[in-house]
Amino acid sequence: MAVYLDNAATTEVRSEALDAMLPLMRGDYANPSSAHSAGQRARRALDAARARTAAALGAHPDEIVFTGSGSEADCMAIFGLSAPGASQRRHLITSAIEHHAVLHAADTLRARGHAVTIVPVDAQGFVHADALAEALRARADSAEDATMLVSIMHANNEIGTIEPIARLAAIAHEHGALFHTDAVQTAGHIPIDVAQLGIDALSLSAHKFEGPKGVGALYVRKGACVEPLIVGGAQEGGRRAGTENVAGIVGLSVALDLAVHEIASQSVHIAALRDALIDGALALPGASLNGAREERLPNNASLRFEGVDGQTAVLALDVAGFEASTGSACASGSLEPSHVLSALGLPPGQARGTVRFSLGRTTSADDIARLLSRLPGTIEKLRALADALNPGGGLARARE
Ligand SMILES: Cc1ncc(COP(=O)(O)O)c(C=O)c1O
Repeated sequence: MAVYLDNAATTEVRSEALDAMLPLMRGDYANPSSAHSAGQRARRALDAARARTAAALGAHPDEIVFTGSGSEADCMAIFGLSAPGASQRRHLITSAIEHHAVLHAADTLRARGHAVTIVPVDAQGFVHADALAEALRARADSAEDATMLVSIMHANNEIGTIEPIARLAAIAHEHGALFHTDAVQTAGHIPIDVAQLGIDALSLSAHKFEGPKGVGALYVRKGACVEPLIVGGAQEGGRRAGTENVAGIVGLSVALDLAVHEIASQSVHIAALRDALIDGALALPGASLNGAREERLPNNASLRFEGVDGQTAVLALDVAGFEASTGSACASGSLEPSHVLSALGLPPGQARGTVRFSLGRTTSADDIARLLSRLPGTIEKLRALADALNPGGGLARARE
């Protein structure tokens, strides 16, 4: 069996979540808005899932809006918190390394006449408090010019760097702006308490923590006004129309609750395997780590190898029995170097040498040992191939 090291792209649904979901698709499939007793059972399952999801984040159940994905939660935050009914302010700040769900939503707002500032990151992927403070517009000439929303991700999906969210949110609030964080890669992986983070909105997605695909959630702090993206029925407190995905939502709540309770034991174990992988890989000539060493997701090892094309490396590793990726699954197949790696200041030739390994709850020490035994030969073969195809060319020179 291949070793699956692409858990940042998606995870296997854990059996407890699946067991909780199946009855809601077979016998107990009623619409939670139906008045009959089967409908009321579905309603109770939904209410319990909302309470469980809220408790896992330190939130109130009314503050949870279930969505169809992490992307939808991000878009709801960006569009919903900046809609005319929600704010007069028209300036958005986000970072250069956000997921495209946030960056493309920002592009759309810009096209609609909003001002958008993209704050840079340093070589490890950190957003600096000074850079945010400089970008914030509080004392603008008119309310319209002032910053309404700052959206900075909790941790980056490609390089694993964890941002100083509590500090950044406090600065945004000092300037009267709201703060949203995309926690799609951190929910269930590192502790989250929305009050401690001091944020107004937070996105998550079930399939990143062993829940089902196609279901996410947006936490919206009580008092923050968010306009719906999808209108129609009055579901989700009028904030997201459409018959609820009861089974998916229950699966999300079970997977999140279990993951959060296991963080203390799991994250130490997974981080130890991650470090063994990083240390083993960095012992190879021409290998470097992308992102921060300390403030890093416990399951992320983003490595680059000089003289190697990451996409070719992913294919060669697949043949060798290891499933990894070059970075974001959404951008794979693109010939452009990743916007995240470019924002770190890496030239395209170096950025293209990246392979992201993302570990999961069932990754074993043996899996990592097997990978480390195959990695040197795979990398050397790819370098030899690149040299043969392009003697004295860019890849060969990059190794010197
Ligand atoms: C940081 C981040 N945000 C948002 C998303 C989008 O989540 P979904 O796949 O549920 O739309 C992803 C998925 O890769 C992600 O990694």
